Amino acid sequence: MGKSRLEGKVALITGGARGMGASEAQLFIDEGAKVVITDILDEVGNETAKRLSPDGSQCIFVHHDVTSESDWKAVLEQSLKAFGQIDILVNNAGIFERGSILDTELSSFERTMDINVTGVFLGMKVVAPHMVQRQKGSIINISSVAGLDGTPGFVAYGASKWAVRGMTKGVAKELAPFGVRVNSIHPGIIDTPMLQTFEEAGEGVREMVRTRIPLGYEAEPIHVARMALYLGSDDSSYSTGSEFIVDGGWSA
Ligand SMILES: NC(=O)c1ccc[n+]([C@@H]2O[C@H](COP(=O)([O-])OP(=O)(O)OC[C@H]3O[C@@H](n4cnc5c(N)ncnc54)[C@H](O)[C@@H]3O)[C@@H](O)[C@H]2O)c1
Repeated sequence: MGKSRLEGKVALITGGARGMGASEAQLFIDEGAKVVITDILDEVGNETAKRLSPDGSQCIFVHHDVTSESDWKAVLEQSLKAFGQIDILVNNAGIFERGSILDTELSSFERTMDINVTGVFLGMKVVAPHMVQRQKGSIINISSVAGLDGTPGFVAYGASKWAVRGMTKGVAKELAPFGVRVNSIHPGIIDTPMLQTFEEAGEGVREMVRTRIPLGYEAEPIHVARMALYLGSDDSSYSTGSEFIVDGGWSA
């Protein structure tokens, strides 16, 4: 793999303070991009941006709650002010709250839909006009294997990730005439802080990996970041409205 696959491009990555978003930011910068990371975690976000670009010339952090339309407008403005354009939008911010239909509170369902679905909707709504105007852009929405089939104990999360998958396809067809591509990534089990919460809830992640993942190990964030790199780069120029699965064979 040659370097600089994103030379001259600018990416906006939500939930980029840590986990997969931070890994994507690192890889994108290594490949020549300038990156805006956003998150509600200001301290971690600022540290991550400083680590990735000590002088701020390659990466900045902006405070951002993805459920707020006014935050989205401010993020767009600050990104354009810092780097002049947005070529790649990664809608990565998300939360996971476990629960079956018998034990999920309405508040948990609504919180999950608000961050995981409304957040993605607002991101596309606010950033797409800029991309349409430039007649180019790649939007990458992070769904999950839980957006591919029915996962017991994931009622809110599963609904949210199916919604992301569905919205991706419709919007891909809407934006295709303007040269803007929209795809979803479906990670399986990835070792991030989110997975640790899952493990703490007594889910037996290791056991699940052993019994359900044909490759036999959980992924590192970089495995997903490499897929995001492909979708953000011109290498994927003929792909839109598609699901890109990174799950070690789980859903096969
Ligand atoms: N870890 C996994 O196994 C896994 C599997 C499939 C899909 N995913 C998805 O991948 C994405 C990244 O997850 P991760 O595993 O890196 O988890 P993570 O918790 O490390 O990262 C998610 C980030 O989103 C941020 N965030 C949460 N609410 C926000 C809000 N309202 N506004 C802005 N930022 C907010 C968090 O602060 C955090 O930094 C999520 O969409 C998640 O659902 C994760």
